[in-house]
Amino acid sequence: MTSPSFFQGWRAGLLWFPDPQMPQAQHEQDGLLVTAREADGIVRIQAIGPYRDLAPQFPDLPVTHWPGLCIAPGFVDLHIHYPQTDVIGSPAEGLLPWLEHYTFPHEKQFSEPAYAHEVTAFFMDELMRHGVTTALCFATAHPESVDVFMAEAQKRQLRMVTGKVLQDRHSPDGLRDTDTALSLRQTEDLIRRWHGVDRLGYAITPRFAPTSSPEQLHGAGEIAHQFPDVWIQSHVAENLDEIRWVSELFPEARSYLDVYDRAGLLRQRSVYAHCIYLDDTDRRRMAEVGATAAVSPTSNLFLGSGFFDYTASDAAGLRYGLASDVGGGTSFSPFHTMHAAYTVARQNVGRPGISLAPEHLWWQHTAGAAAALDLGGKVGNLLPGCEADFVVLNPRATPLLARRTTQTETLAEWLFAMIVLGDERLIAHTVVQGQRVNIGR
Ligand code: GUN
Ligand code: ZN
Repeated sequence: MTSPSFFQGWRAGLLWFPDPQMPQAQHEQDGLLVTAREADGIVRIQAIGPYRDLAPQFPDLPVTHWPGLCIAPGFVDLHIHYPQTDVIGSPAEGLLPWLEHYTFPHEKQFSEPAYAHEVTAFFMDELMRHGVTTALCFATAHPESVDVFMAEAQKRQLRMVTGKVLQDRHSPDGLRDTDTALSLRQTEDLIRRWHGVDRLGYAITPRFAPTSSPEQLHGAGEIAHQFPDVWIQSHVAENLDEIRWVSELFPEARSYLDVYDRAGLLRQRSVYAHCIYLDDTDRRRMAEVGATAAVSPTSNLFLGSGFFDYTASDAAGLRYGLASDVGGGTSFSPFHTMHAAYTVARQNVGRPGISLAPEHLWWQHTAGAAAALDLGGKVGNLLPGCEADFVVLNPRATPLLARRTTQTETLAEWLFAMIVLGDERLIAHTVVQGQRVNIGR
């Protein structure tokens, strides 16, 4: 095979998921990843394998060599709020007071594009430092907050999905959609402006049932019907007070989830954060339509919301993946999120605890999250055809990590050591579209 100049080689350890549907990782000690820019301008992975086997097939390949480091898929965050970057760590007596006292007042500021831009740039820098290369992200109710985010992601060549938050009631002035019809027109305008442009995607984003009128929810459902390949994102069944409120506001609905279902907001490419207090009918319904749960354990622990039920979700065939839910969540770090997910599953409230395998946790934040977003084969893995967004791990990044990771005997032990001890220092490099991003290391 010839190696035109736009082919690049990356030599290091490799970690990937050979069957993207299966949470089983493969590790290659001395591997080669080959990437190239294709005719549509996207840089994709062309080949992956042991260096000794692959290198002879690419004789003139320029190769970046990182001895001792390990290339792994860029992480995918299934649910995060960029406007809550400065809300992290705000203590409250649960979700509803937290929204009222910190989050809503803070989000009002995003009507100002210059402010939104400063936060967006910091937020994307932070994602990169933590190795998160794709996110499904909430903006705020202000359409400008979407324009600013999309423009910045486009400039950085990132694959990102976001949307204007729909909230036309039970929200303060300055954050509430005062004209429901206008909020829906704004959503349609933003879809036409941004969805499918470069690597950007749009998500129809009703905040949660209590802050949308039935008219707004049904209008959002009609837009979803009109644009079948846009995403839908919201929150469901996170907190007991919230659930009581929803049952008062929507007495006709069988469950909280059913409010969205009746509005036409439950389908493939819909991602619902939390899903703690679903019942089995809800779980099976989500599975049936191909909807996804964004499991957000650091947020659920911080706000005292509850515990995602992995056992019941697996039994129902519900798809799920991991999310930081910053700023209810306490960290941008996928390592912190995976660690918290492990802890939550160990509690497995009301049942014997389960131990999620480290490969499974890692998959939930990479290939599994990508599949849940319908972006399998594009991001979250290193298989040929995937877009060239990856991280380079330094398993010896801290004295304790160095000591612990060099004493492991199996891949599972090695991954566990990184999940439990890791943070952004593990990310030696982040590569987006075949280019190293400046993450200050
Ligand atoms: N429910 C409605 N809005 C929010 C939010 O911003 N964060 C979380 N965690 N739950 C919500
Ligand atoms: Zn959220």
